[in-house]
Amino acid sequence: MSLLVTGGAGFIGSNFVLDWLANSDEPVVNLDALTYAGNLANLACLQGDARHVFVHGDICDRALIDRLLAEHRPRAIVHFAAESHVDRSIHGPGAFMRTNIEGTYTLLEAARAHWSALAADDKAAFRFHHVSTDEVYGSLKADDPPFAETNPYEPNSPYSASKAASDHLVRAWHHTYGLPVVTTNCSNNYGPYHFPEKLIPLMIVNALAGKALPVYGDGQQIRDWLYVKDHCSGIRAVLERGRLGETYNIGGWNEKANIDIVRTVCALLDELRPDSAGPYSRLITYVTDRPGHDRRYAIDARKIERELGWRPAETFDTGIRKTVQWYLDHPDWVADVQNGSYRDWLDRQYGAQAATA
Ligand code: NAD
Ligand code: TYD
Repeated sequence: MSLLVTGGAGFIGSNFVLDWLANSDEPVVNLDALTYAGNLANLACLQGDARHVFVHGDICDRALIDRLLAEHRPRAIVHFAAESHVDRSIHGPGAFMRTNIEGTYTLLEAARAHWSALAADDKAAFRFHHVSTDEVYGSLKADDPPFAETNPYEPNSPYSASKAASDHLVRAWHHTYGLPVVTTNCSNNYGPYHFPEKLIPLMIVNALAGKALPVYGDGQQIRDWLYVKDHCSGIRAVLERGRLGETYNIGGWNEKANIDIVRTVCALLDELRPDSAGPYSRLITYVTDRPGHDRRYAIDARKIERELGWRPAETFDTGIRKTVQWYLDHPDWVADVQNGSYRDWLDRQYGAQAATA
């Protein structure tokens, strides 16, 4: 038995692969196109581990996916691969439409062909797990209840619209063809291996470099933060015990305003790596707001808690401290990302010929 993971060299995907192989000997076939967001250094500790098969390829490549399904016969596909950064989707939405919509469609069609031909037992056990976001539900007002699975879809950015489209495709492939799918919609993740274009890692690496900490607009936008390893345990629970065709929201009950996140990061750095120039909060700089910026996201995670007994292990205080410490302990990872040399990892670690599909 094995899993086919897409996007397993990205932030959440690599945490998932590492967690999976720490808890199980079931092999993982990891299909990733290694866009700017894919970083094989995240998986360096798996080099030489036969349980991890890395395949450099695109989820829009149907022939490649057909071949991987025929060769490895995975019992499940866990689909992380996506373009994931809202700001990039505003500047260039095309890649989001291609990967998030066409890529998910291609995977669904390949999965359907493969699943249809399985023997009855394997067919019943097969899962297509689609990893999605709370951003599909749109923006909440200050006194709205948090997003439940029944909330209408009201995506506002090219990113969230492309993820909403992919969620609809997954739903339709279940209702029309009976493909055994589960979908999870998660709130903002943070933790190790987070690419420093997103809020928390950007603030940590900029502060350490003495650079400005850019806070969009008034900094009062609210996100609901979940430690990435808690997201991974939520995915495992849904993959193993989730009801077919169902959606599960995953969140950490940690609603925080952006400015409070930035101040918390500064305070932790003041404690763990004090700067003789003064408190890191001196670097906070309010900048022009993101167009169409969603004001508030919040997740009602009661369904996954009630049905599957899942709970986050970290509070925000414990998770953010671990995260800041991780970045302090991994200056080489940060430097490789910042100077671009992480993009050479394919050749350095695997050899161009072995790794390219
Ligand atoms: P990420 O941008 O860090 O990683 C995405 C990975 O997908 C990268 O390794 C990239 O190389 C790969 N990829 C991109 N296009 C590809 C393609 N065409 N074919 C194959 N691989 C491709 O993203 P992330 O933050 O790890 O998010 C993973 C998933 O979780 C996404 O589907 C995202 O929508 C969802 N999600 C993320 C968050 C969050 O806070 N980061 C929250 C909720 C849901
Ligand atoms: P981000 O990490 O990009 O996640 P998302 O947009 O998917 O929620 O941003 C989190 C919040 O932080 C969001 O409200 C935008 C804000 N933000 C800033 O204020 N400054 C920044 O430099 C970045 C990257 C984000």
